[in-house]
Amino acid sequence: MDWGLKNRLSRIIQPADGHTVMLAVDHGYFLGPISRLEKPEEAIAPLLPYADALMLTRGVLRNCVGASADIPVVLRVSGGSSIVGADLANETITTSVRDAIRLNVGAVALSVFVGSQYEHQTLANLAHLIDESVEYGIPVLAVTAVGKELEKRDARYLSLCCRIVAELGAHFVKTYYCEDFERVVESCPIPVVIAGGPKLETDLDALRLARSAIEQGAVGVDMGRNVWQSDHPVPMIRALRAVVHEGTSPEEAHELLLELKHSGQAQPV
Ligand code: R5P
Repeated sequence: MDWGLKNRLSRIIQPADGHTVMLAVDHGYFLGPISRLEKPEEAIAPLLPYADALMLTRGVLRNCVGASADIPVVLRVSGGSSIVGADLANETITTSVRDAIRLNVGAVALSVFVGSQYEHQTLANLAHLIDESVEYGIPVLAVTAVGKELEKRDARYLSLCCRIVAELGAHFVKTYYCEDFERVVESCPIPVVIAGGPKLETDLDALRLARSAIEQGAVGVDMGRNVWQSDHPVPMIRALRAVVHEGTSPEEAHELLLELKHSGQAQPV
């Protein structure tokens, strides 16, 4: 692996402990102004100091994040479909590697939809993106998307997806946590991060999800809704960091969240 590519990756997955807390705010690319991300700049700013990387589109980056932000950007470069359209899987590459370089990104991210009508198209998108990105030392994050079919999130399917994107040359993969998650990680030769998925009932549930994923081999989380749709986003991301980076139990981390909330460090949403 080229020095530049390794260097970019090491800014995202922290060399000190091999873990990462990525903040995902790219949802608008197919969901529009999703609840509590209506004004991205207001949702992102208080969370930035606690994230190891920021995953978003170029439009939100250019318009809602100050250029002095000292955080690696994982730029979503796939899209082209919406939640009200015919098929979420019908994605193309929406941003050139040239523009990603202009934006000084730490990595680029693209979704694949294995098993869908657009499996070949999205896997070909990934292969093409990898060929172009490695020319410039930019790591590629493959996202194993399921669209509206959340029931697809099982170890058999996610192992298949993660292995395929690794074989195609992705440098790290974002997938979902599932039962027997260690099977997904064991058969995948690249680092795995997990999405949080739709907002869980409680913050503690999301902290438990993160802990289980780490215990079963994930290098970290790339979480969105379970952070900024929490009633206490800053305490939540700080609790998440404790779980991912310090090995704090979900219950202790939740205590920390409550302390931060009561000490006035909770951010209004
Ligand atoms: C969805 O396709 C986006 O890539 C999100 O970044 C991803 O789902 C992670 O966010 P969440 O934790 O809200 O699932």
